[in-house]
Amino acid sequence: MVNIERLSTGIKEFDELIEGGIPRSFFVAVTGEPGTGKTIFCIHFINEGVRVGDKCIYVTTEESKESIIRQAAQFGFNFEKAIEEKKLILIDALMGKDEQWSLKSLELDELVEKVIEGKKFLGFGRSRVVIDSLSAFWLDKPAMARKYSYYLKKVLSKWDFTILVTSQYAITTSSAFGWGVEHVSDGIIRFRRGIKEGILKRYVIVEKMRQTQHSLRLHEINIDSSRGLYIVGATEERREDYALPKKVSEKIKKVEQEKENNLP
Ligand SMILES: Nc1ncnc2c1ncn2[C@@H]1O[C@H](COP(=O)(O)OP(=O)(O)O)[C@@H](O)[C@H]1O
Ligand SMILES: [Mg+2]
Repeated sequence: MVNIERLSTGIKEFDELIEGGIPRSFFVAVTGEPGTGKTIFCIHFINEGVRVGDKCIYVTTEESKESIIRQAAQFGFNFEKAIEEKKLILIDALMGKDEQWSLKSLELDELVEKVIEGKKFLGFGRSRVVIDSLSAFWLDKPAMARKYSYYLKKVLSKWDFTILVTSQYAITTSSAFGWGVEHVSDGIIRFRRGIKEGILKRYVIVEKMRQTQHSLRLHEINIDSSRGLYIVGATEERREDYALPKKVSEKIKKVEQEKENNLP
């Protein structure tokens, strides 16, 4: 059997769905509607990278650098320290600031150049990069999605990066914004949401992971301040999902008991 080197996502139960982690140098799309946990998933991936000594780069286009740092801190991940220790670079592509680690425009060439500059700064060795979100780079030219994704994958994998890119799903149609990413990617991690009995539920399903016998099940996830994102369980296996509410089942039992008592 071929032994594939895999990178832990930092979420143990998620790793178990993909034979232990994401194969090194893969280009993986993390997709889903807003608020489903894409950014938080990427934060876990980067935190794990810092922990094991990988060179890490996080490009943020939708939130400020500060917002990512604060979100990570809620889960006890000290990104500020990682930056100081030159284990992590947070590239801000939102503010258009004139600083070393920000992008002046949402141009793919500038992004690639900056990420490589970051890699040279961090040094030799296994690396992780998150681009959150990649779809921001073709907002005005969605037809380029596939070509851009292919280019990015080709260039960055040469630099020993394992790559996570997030992409948005259009809320109204639930169709992927820029299908190109998903065609080119080695893996697709799909986040979803739904409302059940008036409560927002979030789910994850691995739709694609090359060279991996991955789980085909939808899993419910949750996010909280102490653990961050974690897996609650496979949806089919959870009793709550198919069991009747307690009150209803008690009532049925009572009626059945009465029927029995009334038997001649
Ligand atoms: N400290 C926290 N405790 C509980 N839930 C949180 C916490 N921080 C964020 N969340 C949840 O995570 C959601 C945002 O997830 P995020 O990964 O940013 O979504 P997106 O898929 O849009 O990137 C919030 O709407 C909130 O429900
Ligand atoms: Mg996000």
